Amino acid sequence: MDHLIQRAVKHLAAAQNAVALTGAGISIESGIPPFRGKGGLWEKFDPMEIAHIDALIRDPARVWKILVKDLKDIIDRAAPNDGHKGLARLEKLGILKTVITQNIDGLHQMAGNTDVIEFHGTFAWQRCMKCDRRIETRKVDASVLPPRCGCSGILRPDAVFFGEMIPPVALWRSQEVTARCDVMLVVGTSAVVQPAASMPILAKQAGAVVIEINPEPTPLTGVVCDFLILGDAGAIMNRIISGLEAQR
Ligand code: APR
Repeated sequence: MDHLIQRAVKHLAAAQNAVALTGAGISIESGIPPFRGKGGLWEKFDPMEIAHIDALIRDPARVWKILVKDLKDIIDRAAPNDGHKGLARLEKLGILKTVITQNIDGLHQMAGNTDVIEFHGTFAWQRCMKCDRRIETRKVDASVLPPRCGCSGILRPDAVFFGEMIPPVALWRSQEVTARCDVMLVVGTSAVVQPAASMPILAKQAGAVVIEINPEPTPLTGVVCDFLILGDAGAIMNRIISGLEAQR
């Protein structure tokens, strides 16, 4: 593993335009469950049942009760971990320009990254399904479900549900920064949901070095990514940052 950390340090030290693509795995060490694998949300619930836009329209109270309320409570308590802090440090060092995240927890911004593309939207804001007004989730009274806007419309997370389009600006900007990057870190994603999982392919096509950080291989491993550093994001990012700081 050491030689892989050293390879990552070498590529990142030379990078002018690094980009990170992150998934739920980077937030597990902050107490937020992943969607797939051990303890994943989709082990307990069928995503088509509670995370599809049709389910939200059909029974918003049930989606709020099962998916939104518990996840909101977990996210409200979560803080950035060493994985998030490592990516924020990479930005401070002038190496990392943008984080493309599939996560909806806002932890990258909290850690200090200033250019974060929320590919699947965010749970930090709710949007009225009638008047489109946005309200911060922490200001929403979830004692009565589903919560309503002052106009009496139902509030829903400003996140992308299955069956919905990726916000066009998020997709366009992600493609744009990926096409220009020289290193892409792919951290904590199972790389099975499109079109997010295509970003590393676009990066490879653009000639970037693609480095995966994950405790287990994904469909990208050995096919798209140059190498996989097996392990938890927090510990690996700590070692990469130490390697970069030692060169300063
Ligand atoms: N550090 C890094 N990666 C980890 C860690 C860790 N400590 N623990 C687990 N992982 C990895 C798992 O091996 C897995 O590859 O994180 C990944 C989590 O995968 P998913 O739960 O599928 O999360 P993600 O890839 O973000 O899912 C993509 O699917 O359901 C949708 O909208 C949802 O944005 C989500 C999308």
